[in-house]
Amino acid sequence: MRPTIVAGNWKMNGSQDFVRELLTQLREYSRWDEQVEAIVFPPFPYLLMTESLLNGTSVAWGAQTLSEFANGAYTGEVSAEILQDCGCEYVLVGHSERRQWFHESSAAVAAKFEAAKQAGLIPILCVGETREQREAGKTLEVIFEQIQAVLKLPNGIQWFQQAVIAYEPVWAIGTGLTATPEQAQSVHRSIRQLLAEHDSKIAENCPILYGGSVKPSNAAELFQQADIDGGLIGGAALKAEDFIAIYQAACR
Ligand code: PGA
Repeated sequence: MRPTIVAGNWKMNGSQDFVRELLTQLREYSRWDEQVEAIVFPPFPYLLMTESLLNGTSVAWGAQTLSEFANGAYTGEVSAEILQDCGCEYVLVGHSERRQWFHESSAAVAAKFEAAKQAGLIPILCVGETREQREAGKTLEVIFEQIQAVLKLPNGIQWFQQAVIAYEPVWAIGTGLTATPEQAQSVHRSIRQLLAEHDSKIAENCPILYGGSVKPSNAAELFQQADIDGGLIGGAALKAEDFIAIYQAACR
């Protein structure tokens, strides 16, 4: 059985006070379920604080991106090894904001994915189409290209043994527009079929999360879909109450 995951992507938000308050509220929540993994993704400078506040709890943490390089003279970059040293178990790669604002190509994202795997981190590979691409009927073409960049790596499908995919339609991120459960399920199913063409067991076991304006009011119907294994939450993850309500929707 593949795990269910509810992950909070804080993006470029927060302050020490904010992080302390939010994580203290998560620490105080006592009904984390063994079957449903909760993860938070704070900005880099708050990772150590996150480690000290969450150590020994059921909530895991990770970073929002990483360098494709192992170490050395890459000013401003953060390696997989440094993330592990900060207690990270997970890392987001290829979030659409990284692709859009920092021009990360699918090949660069695949290199980051590989760097994460080589260090033993679990990458969450984010994929998704823009509104124009959807309207042009190119949704699957775009998403498959983003996933195939990883499948083309020497280890290919094997890398997905301990990895996660997050389908986040760009038009649904931060816009209040959510894919309908049917729209999301249909893409998730297609992603699983693509993986299954390479290895059906790995495809069955790979969690595929949905992201894009998930809220307490729409989480349950999304998470009920057969191929939706939880969510990657942006805005609503900044409020402990909403994040926990979404988590509870995944526990049913
Ligand atoms: P949102 O962001 O929930 O605010 O739409 C999701 C994401 O970008 O991961």
